[in-house]
Amino acid sequence: MSDSHKTGAMSTQSLVTQIAALQDYQRYEDLHWSGTFEEYLGMVRHNPRIARTSHERLYDMVLDAGTQTYVDNKKKITRYKFFSDETHGGRDAIYGLDIALMRLVNVLKAAAMRYGTEKRIILLHGPVGSSKSTIVRLLKQGLEEYSRSADGALYTYEWALPEELRYLTAGEETFRSPMNEEPLKLIPPEWRQQAIEAFGLFDPGDPEAGRKPFRPYVPGQLNPACRFIFKELLAIYRGDWAKVIQHVRVRRMLISEEDRVGIGTFQPKDEKNQDATELTGDINYRRIAEYGSDTDPRAFNFDGEFNVANRGLIEFVEILKLDVAFLYDLLGATQERKIKPKKFAQTDIDEVIIGHTNEAEYERLLENKFMEALRDRTVKIDIPYITKLQEEIKIYVKDYNPERVRGRFIAPHTLEVAAMWAVLSRLEDPKKQNLSVLQKLKLYDGKTMPGFTQDSVKELRKEAKREGMDGVSPRYVQDKIANCLVSDRGQANINPFLLMNELESGLRNHSLITSEDQRKRYRELLAVTKQEYEDIVKNEVQRAISADEEAISRLCANYIDNVKAYTQREKVKNQYTGQDEEPDERLMRSIETKIDIAESRKDDFRREIMHYIGALAVEGKQFDFRTNERLYKALELKLFEDQKDSIKLTSLVSSVVDKESQEKIDVVKQRLIRDYGYDESSASDVLTYVASIFARGEMKGD
Ligand SMILES: Nc1ncnc2c1ncn2[C@@H]1O[C@H](COP(=O)(O)OP(=O)(O)OP(=O)(O)O)[C@@H](O)[C@H]1O
Ligand SMILES: [Mg+2]
Repeated sequence: MSDSHKTGAMSTQSLVTQIAALQDYQRYEDLHWSGTFEEYLGMVRHNPRIARTSHERLYDMVLDAGTQTYVDNKKKITRYKFFSDETHGGRDAIYGLDIALMRLVNVLKAAAMRYGTEKRIILLHGPVGSSKSTIVRLLKQGLEEYSRSADGALYTYEWALPEELRYLTAGEETFRSPMNEEPLKLIPPEWRQQAIEAFGLFDPGDPEAGRKPFRPYVPGQLNPACRFIFKELLAIYRGDWAKVIQHVRVRRMLISEEDRVGIGTFQPKDEKNQDATELTGDINYRRIAEYGSDTDPRAFNFDGEFNVANRGLIEFVEILKLDVAFLYDLLGATQERKIKPKKFAQTDIDEVIIGHTNEAEYERLLENKFMEALRDRTVKIDIPYITKLQEEIKIYVKDYNPERVRGRFIAPHTLEVAAMWAVLSRLEDPKKQNLSVLQKLKLYDGKTMPGFTQDSVKELRKEAKREGMDGVSPRYVQDKIANCLVSDRGQANINPFLLMNELESGLRNHSLITSEDQRKRYRELLAVTKQEYEDIVKNEVQRAISADEEAISRLCANYIDNVKAYTQREKVKNQYTGQDEEPDERLMRSIETKIDIAESRKDDFRREIMHYIGALAVEGKQFDFRTNERLYKALELKLFEDQKDSIKLTSLVSSVVDKESQEKIDVVKQRLIRDYGYDESSASDVLTYVASIFARGEMKGD
């Protein structure tokens, strides 16, 4: 039994009390604040931004999470941290789409400033699995949390009626604004703006403090039900608005998708089943009996998605699958910012309308004459796939890291090769003849290559118009990784080969592949990826083999002794025999040729090195090969060449390994584990694999 457990058991407090202590009462109070209209006006005067429109609020929410700017291929780019989802540890982070997200935020900004885009549907358009839903989910969830913060707080109202007036609400004491309207709407539109101006319900701004001016913008009428109650009360009080307002209670409003407050989602079901009341609400038949008329606004259920989403955001999933019958509702909601339920008065709305759609459906929209009006009222934002390898890798690392995947080891480069293949599939073949698509991928990923500048990368991006709009989706890759992780073929770990096989076999029955050509291309790119993986691990093993500092140091000393003797025309003492011998020309050349020092240049090179060592000696410093990059590389390569044979890596292929070789191999293996993130078994695998590459090379007479 742990210590804390014991203390808990001995404590006199009940568990309920202890759990209750976790609760934050002050926060609860704040979140459930309610007060009079007068108090609310005081709050608006203090901070007019509590009365923002839905577009203003959404834009501020994104901005409040902070920004960061950087330069990519000479282009200044702003990253909106909101989409990194840091508040949830990056759970829904969007990677590699900064440019598309910049466009989206600019549309929100223009809408916040009422430049027209607030009267449009924001349409996220892109291939399947390009994170469209994730982006909308972030916005929805962001709004929920923002409405709970001090900066994002918003308010609505309800009617609170004394006994004698409850006939207005069929006996209920309170009657909530069914569309969670802004309380300032209770000021009649004729003098609403004047009131805002005259009583300082705005912020003139403060350039010195960097605060922009702000005026609440609150257009439109109350919803029909509240308008009805309002009018009745006004008649009772003979037109005295101040008396009517006494029956208003302002409440803080918490946006919540679950509670259907401020967030609506509409997903077209099968075509015959679509019903306009899902969008704009319906008559409540039980209430008709209470109010005595089927046209009484109080007998209406404001539970359509447009009603529910008021003050926040409505999401249209696969918006273009929408039946034409809904089109007019949607158009009115967008352009007029009003909805018109069947047999019922028009109702003003204030909400952000976001839809998403994939390529195929969008093509249909372009062909459909009926949809022309819709097309005209949408701002389309392309959400493509990622085309930067490092960013794509992040998607998979997020989901399949050692934290999340327990009990199964994912060998180094496994996620990387999958990401590489996915990105390759999205790139258009470069028009430049001497550039392969793999090289293009590397350039996009920020690698440098002789003959290519940032300008040429920009050029490459420009010539490929549709790049990122086709190819393999991250979801396909995620599914295949998941398959590998749960497959029961006895391997304790998953490695690039297993995953590449899985990716390949999935192609056979992949529903999104439309032609044999495409399948063939994906296969070829898998071969390109395999080849690249081979190069990566070959390099890694080479470096692990020659990562023996002591051996390099010995080799270096030996080389320097010989060079010194050579330049000074002396002899070298043989360490074993003690005899003086001529400098070892073969040894020196075998090192120099590794870095392409030609025979004719060798004297210069050797003299340079001696000068360098001499200059150091004058300063009282010791020569260290690590400070001379070229020499270091030459020594590393030479050592690798020597060790490759002495380690007899290739013997791994033949299953009989002598004890001495095995010991040397084990050293290399330990380096792979220590420096490159392998575990025992994946290190063995990779060594065997690289050995087989070398064996192949030797057979070819390499
Ligand atoms: N740029 C990206 N950054 C982070 N994750 C991404 C990115 N693109 C795709 N994903 C991941 O891919 C998966 C699919 O994303 P999502 O469901 O948002 O796509 P979608 O565009 O809505 O697809 P569909 O068109 O099929 O509805 C998610 O797991 C998401 O995290
Ligand atoms: Mg989606």
